[in-house]
Amino acid sequence: MNRKYRKTVIAGNWKMNMLNSGIKPFMEELKANMPKNRNCDVVLCAPAIMVPAMIKAGKDCKVAAGAQDVSMYEKGAYTGEISADQLSDVGAKYCIVGHSERRQYHGETDIQVNIKAKALLDKGIVPIICVGESLEQREMDLTMEYVAYQVKTALSGIDAAKLRRCIIAYEPIWAIGTGKTATSEQAQEVCEGIRAVIRKIYGARPARAISILYGGSMNAKNAEELLAQPDIDGGLIGGASLKPADFAKIIEASNQEC
Ligand code: 13P
Repeated sequence: MNRKYRKTVIAGNWKMNMLNSGIKPFMEELKANMPKNRNCDVVLCAPAIMVPAMIKAGKDCKVAAGAQDVSMYEKGAYTGEISADQLSDVGAKYCIVGHSERRQYHGETDIQVNIKAKALLDKGIVPIICVGESLEQREMDLTMEYVAYQVKTALSGIDAAKLRRCIIAYEPIWAIGTGKTATSEQAQEVCEGIRAVIRKIYGARPARAISILYGGSMNAKNAEELLAQPDIDGGLIGGASLKPADFAKIIEASNQEC
């Protein structure tokens, strides 16, 4: 982390878990375990229908609500889709785009990720843009090339003013839900590489100011070391964000001085 230049963000991704009825008890337990002072923004990305309940229950411990996907279309005959305008209407402040699970199970492409990110920015929602390589790509030494391509495509047509409202999350696919975390060196190397890609497009200042998160089996035990890396500005946490005490520990780990 480097708090001099950018925000630390601890974001949970609940994926397709939890029910509305579980949100209030979750928040109560989170509050009970939360560090007194905290030095980061906390976000929980829930299924879209749970966003209003999340906003209500999250007020007390200052947890912002986010969604996990958005339609690339503005409005109209797209049965089952939810637009950026509709997410904004229910109060979502953040939205994940390009998660590897959406790329894998729903064929989401880099171009679509770009359209979705722009749709969110237009409605004042912060896109959390996910990128990351597969194990095969890492083994073929293609990690940085692939991730750089994903970042460039996702940010295409987004100007520097809007970039300030974007978050990038580096999530190596092989580390998601596997218990296999990237080492802090591996994670730092790619996050630093992502910042270099952004520097090349936008220049030094915007690159210095953007928050880049790491995701992939981040937990209460390994968070401190990962967050101590200079280019890792927070976490996008799956499994451990479903356990309030663990999630609170990760928030606490972000309090360290770096
Ligand atoms: P896990 O923390 O469960 O590995 O999930 C990471 C993730 O996909 C967050 O978006």
